[in-house]
Amino acid sequence: MKETAKVAMLVKPGEFELKEFAIPQISDDQMLIKVEGCGVCGTDGHEYKRDPFGLCPVVLGHEGSGEIVKIGKNIKVDSAGIPVSVGDKIVTCVIPCGECNACRNTPARTNLCEKCGVYGLFPDDEIHLNGYFAEYMVVRPNSTFFNVTGMNLDQRMLVEPAAVAVHAVERAKTTGLLRFNTSVLVQGCGPIGLMVMAVLRTLGIENIIALDGNDSRLELAKEMGATQTFNFTSYADFNALLAEVKTATAGLGAEFVFQCTGVAKAESNAWKLVRRGGGLCEVGFFMDGGECSINPHYDLCNKEITAVGSWVYSPQDYPITFDFLKRASGIGLPIEKLVTHKFKLADIQEALETNVQMKGIKVAVIID
Ligand SMILES: NC(=O)c1ccc[n+]([C@@H]2O[C@H](COP(=O)([O-])OP(=O)(O)OC[C@H]3O[C@@H](n4cnc5c(N)ncnc54)[C@H](O)[C@@H]3O)[C@@H](O)[C@H]2O)c1
Ligand SMILES: [Zn+2]
Ligand SMILES: [Zn+2]
Repeated sequence: MKETAKVAMLVKPGEFELKEFAIPQISDDQMLIKVEGCGVCGTDGHEYKRDPFGLCPVVLGHEGSGEIVKIGKNIKVDSAGIPVSVGDKIVTCVIPCGECNACRNTPARTNLCEKCGVYGLFPDDEIHLNGYFAEYMVVRPNSTFFNVTGMNLDQRMLVEPAAVAVHAVERAKTTGLLRFNTSVLVQGCGPIGLMVMAVLRTLGIENIIALDGNDSRLELAKEMGATQTFNFTSYADFNALLAEVKTATAGLGAEFVFQCTGVAKAESNAWKLVRRGGGLCEVGFFMDGGECSINPHYDLCNKEITAVGSWVYSPQDYPITFDFLKRASGIGLPIEKLVTHKFKLADIQEALETNVQMKGIKVAVIID
C-alpha cells in the first residue's frame, strides 16, 4: 500500500501542478478510494479557465470512480443499502449539509441543499485528497455513495452526467406531458443533451428532434435516439429554422423542449420552439450565462407552457441512473461512445484544453 498520493492541483486558472501528499489515516466513518478514472465536466472547464467559484487551489474531478482500498468499520452499506467492502468499485454522489431547509424539510430534494458538498469541488484543505483528478481520494462521513461493482470504467465515469439527464427527465415527467409518443426537441447536443436523448429513448419516446450547430454531434445524437436532426447554422435565421421544426411537428412546434445549452440566445429561442400547451425543461443554465429575453405574451402566457428547472440530482436519482445505463445498453444505445478522449493524470492540462475547445464529447482522465 502506497503512503503518498499524487494529485493534479489547479493552483490558479490555467495552471495545474502535480503534487504529492501523505495518505491520511482513515477514521471509522471514512473510506480511502484508489481512483481509476474521471470524466472532465464543463464546470471543470470553467474552473480551469477563470475559477468562477473561487476554489483555487483545488483538486478538481467529480465524474469519477474508483476502488475501495480502506474502509472504516462503521461503513457497511452504500446509500441504497447495498453491502460494501474493500475491493468494491464506487461512485460518490452529493454530500448534503443535513441542516438547511432543503435537507430538513424536503429530504427527497437534497439537490437543493444550500451547502451541498461535491467531491472535486472543495477548496484544498488538510485532507488534500478531495477530488478524482488524483491517485487516491478520501470519502468523508455523511457522503452519499453507491456500489457500482460490475459496471465497466467508462460506464462508471458516465454515471454523473447520466444522473443529470435522469433528473431532468424526472422533472419533465412532473409536467404530465411526457408520453411515449410526445414530440420532444433537445436543444444542445453536448454530453448533457445527448444523455437526455438516451434517457428519453430508453423510456420509449421515439419522436426526438436534436438541435445543434455541430454536425458530428448531430450524428452522435442519432445514435443516442434522435429521429431527426437540425443544424441551426444551415438556416438564414431563427424563423427559417422554426418553420422547419414546425413542419416536422404537425405545424405546431415541439410538445416538449429540453434546453441543454448555456447560451442566452438559445434560451430565448427554446421557448419559441414549444407548441401551445407544451412544456420546457431548463437544464443548460447551470452557470450564470447572463440574462435572456422572452416575450411573456407569445412565449409563455398565450401558449400556457409548463416549465420546470432541473438542478443536478439527488441520491435517489442514482439507482434510476444505473438502471438507465443497463437498459440503454440493452436496447443498443452506444452510451460508452460518449467517452471520446482519454488522458493520463500527468497530461491533465491537455485534457482540460481538449474539453474547453469542445473537441470530442466526454474527455476522461485515467489513473494507472
Ligand atoms: N442543470 C444541471 O444540473 C446541469 C448539470 C451539468 C451541466 N449543466 C449545463 O448543461 C449545459 C450542457 O452541458 P454540456 O456538457 O452538454 O455542454 P456543451 O457545451 O458540451 O454542449 C452544449 C451544446 O449546445 C450547442 N449549442 C450552442 N448554441 C446553440 C443553439 N443556439 N442552439 C442549439 N445548440 C446550441 C453547442 O454546439 C454544444 O454542442 C451546460 O451549459 C452546463 O453548464 C447543467
Ligand atoms: Zn459535472
Ligand atoms: Zn443542506
